[in-house]
Amino acid sequence: MANYEEFKDKVALITGGAGGIGKATAKKMGLNGCKLFIGDITKECVDGAVAEIAAEGIDADGSVLDVTSEESVQAMVDACMKKYGKIDYLVAAAGIYRDKMFTDMTFEDWKQTIDINLNGVFLVTRMVLPQMIRRKYGSIIVFGSQAGIRGSALHTNYSATKAAMQGLTRSLMYEVATSGVRINCVAPGVIRTPMTMSGSAEKMEKWTNSIPMRRFGEPVEVANVIAFLLSDDASYVIGQTVPINGGSVVNT
Ligand SMILES: NC(=O)c1ccc[n+]([C@@H]2O[C@H](COP(=O)([O-])OP(=O)(O)OC[C@H]3O[C@@H](n4cnc5c(N)ncnc54)[C@H](O)[C@@H]3O)[C@@H](O)[C@H]2O)c1
Repeated sequence: MANYEEFKDKVALITGGAGGIGKATAKKMGLNGCKLFIGDITKECVDGAVAEIAAEGIDADGSVLDVTSEESVQAMVDACMKKYGKIDYLVAAAGIYRDKMFTDMTFEDWKQTIDINLNGVFLVTRMVLPQMIRRKYGSIIVFGSQAGIRGSALHTNYSATKAAMQGLTRSLMYEVATSGVRINCVAPGVIRTPMTMSGSAEKMEKWTNSIPMRRFGEPVEVANVIAFLLSDDASYVIGQTVPINGGSVVNT
């Protein structure tokens, strides 16, 4: 496993930090000396995740967050700034994924996913980026998906938001490329997290058989790629979407 000296005394803000990939990323960063601030939807899940991360000897804190609310995102960013004084890394992992045929989808179903997966990423990135640009240092990760690259039945809203992450990444890249800040997008395939593990055994088997490596990815396998992309080892990687999918999609 790669270690990253430069994470020592850096600060990472992770939305959806109590979730599978967010928490694995927090631990990976924290075990390399990074300080962590996580935001997630309930006090219970934030407190639980902070306690679990801190139990590994990591300096961690967090606050309740609803990424769809400007006030809530601002409060989380302010709390992180008050605690640690800066934000070096942003991992915008908060997201939802709901099965629904397009023809059964209400406008509310559509808007809820757009609000969390797309507008929520706008809000937190918009609030964190200026201090990164001012300090001429920062690295941002947003989340695409295999569903955003090749599409996914029952997930038109989700897929649309995840394809949008690739567009956001490419476009923001042009605005920050000379500022010392990098943004990249990760596009996981099927990763073993609460988001994916609620399906039927039949669905799990179908998914497994569709993956060339014939297994789901583990959250830490995504966290390892995120840590690399955030680190100075990836200093010339910017504006990219990096698939992490056991071979499921090979053409991006
Ligand atoms: N697990 C996968 O297979 C997979 C595949 C591709 C992309 N992704 C993406 O990776 C990211 C992390 O997903 P995960 O697999 O860890 O899922 P997860 O469900 O374990 O974590 C997502 C977290 O986001 C939080 N969240 C939801 N709505 C929120 C809101 N309004 N405000 C704040 N937090 C909110 C949830 O409480 C949860 O803790 C997501 O963006 C997801 O779309 C996951």
